[in-house]
Amino acid sequence: MKSPNHPLLDPIRLGDVDLPNRIVMASMTRARTDNPGFVPNELQARYYAQRASAGLILTEGTWPSREGVGFINVPGLYTQEQADGWRLVTDAVHEAGGHIFVQLGHIGSSSHPDLLDGALPLAPSAVNPGLKAYTPSGFQDTVTPQAMDLSDIARTVEDYAKASRLAQAAGFDGVELHGISTYLIPTFLYVGLNQRTDDYGGTAENRARFPLEILDALVDSWAPGRVGIKLSPALTGVGNFIADAETLETFEYLVGQLSKRHLAYLHLMNPISDLTGTQVEILGPGVAKHFRPLYSGSLIANGGYTFETGNALVRDGFADAVAFGAPFISNPDLVERFSNDLKLTPSNPDTYYSGGAAGYVDYPTAAEQVGARQAVNYFSSSGSGEFSSPPLPDGTGLKR
Ligand SMILES: Cc1cc2nc3c(=O)[nH]c(=O)nc-3n(C[C@H](O)[C@H](O)[C@H](O)COP(=O)(O)O)c2cc1C
Repeated sequence: MKSPNHPLLDPIRLGDVDLPNRIVMASMTRARTDNPGFVPNELQARYYAQRASAGLILTEGTWPSREGVGFINVPGLYTQEQADGWRLVTDAVHEAGGHIFVQLGHIGSSSHPDLLDGALPLAPSAVNPGLKAYTPSGFQDTVTPQAMDLSDIARTVEDYAKASRLAQAAGFDGVELHGISTYLIPTFLYVGLNQRTDDYGGTAENRARFPLEILDALVDSWAPGRVGIKLSPALTGVGNFIADAETLETFEYLVGQLSKRHLAYLHLMNPISDLTGTQVEILGPGVAKHFRPLYSGSLIANGGYTFETGNALVRDGFADAVAFGAPFISNPDLVERFSNDLKLTPSNPDTYYSGGAAGYVDYPTAAEQVGARQAVNYFSSSGSGEFSSPPLPDGTGLKR
């Protein structure tokens, strides 16, 4: 049944996958894979299964190769052991009725030799991104990376293809290519960081070649309808990732090429800073609005949406689905809360990357919160029968 006011609750087919609603859980790194092999575990399976009512879950960014590692306690998908670990996750999500794509991302120059057994991080050119890397000994300044030669590029493309084959073996429904933020792919797209004079730099077409080669490898090793990509064309002013006069042209060229590939979807992230006076100021009112006319397939919009603004965006034809990040951290039953107009629990940034179960798998569903309150009320010494204060932090209550 269609919900004219709430199209996010309508089913949708993204590529080869039928989803019961258009509320997507965005990828979120949570740093709970605390073992030397970067193998996903039971705790992660529990976390994702709790969120299986999302139309589609996108996993945390996952390394497609050892040399793509750039953060502590984040999972990979380049060994059989890691694929076996991910199988725990996909089985748990499927048993709970959900759908799940793995997000594959090589971090490139945002890494640090301390995370790479002493090796230099890889990048299109030897330009320090000017960021902080999170290493086993804490935050450290990034270094000048090693410029990739053509064999490095070919090997990296093949690493993504191998990871997508492992994703199939691990039971995923598809893969999302991580093309946002300060990872390897955007490094190729920004002129200041890509100073190559070969086929991978110098023009919009050349800068877009690397992500398109990876996408084509993913499609070849699986199917176009099982592959999506996430981009952040409005990223600017983060370290040396600075939009210039060619940035918008580069993303527009790339999106036009994506249109021809009949992918599962294109996922676009909104700006994370004020774009006034920047070269991408035009994207301020919303990235999906700008790119919708340039892309013929399904489009997922992301970044700062609520149920109301997300529904309006879909109703107005600017997106087909909306991805929610932070709200899914603290509301495992986000879809039910949206559907029933229940208040959301705010998330606690202190536990985003802190490790362990706290702030990860212990956020209650709305039904559990009601249960907790009723239990408190039942055992309340006042005996008044009035609603008692719940044993929950401020702001976690349901709307009454
Ligand atoms: C803790 C945290 C970790 C994140 N990690 C990733 C990631 O691994 N990959 C990615 O594409 N985006 C990542 N993001 C960005 C989210 O996917 C999303 O784009 C962003 O939170 C904006 O959506 P929201 O406003 O609904 O939270 C992360 C966000 C948060 C809050």
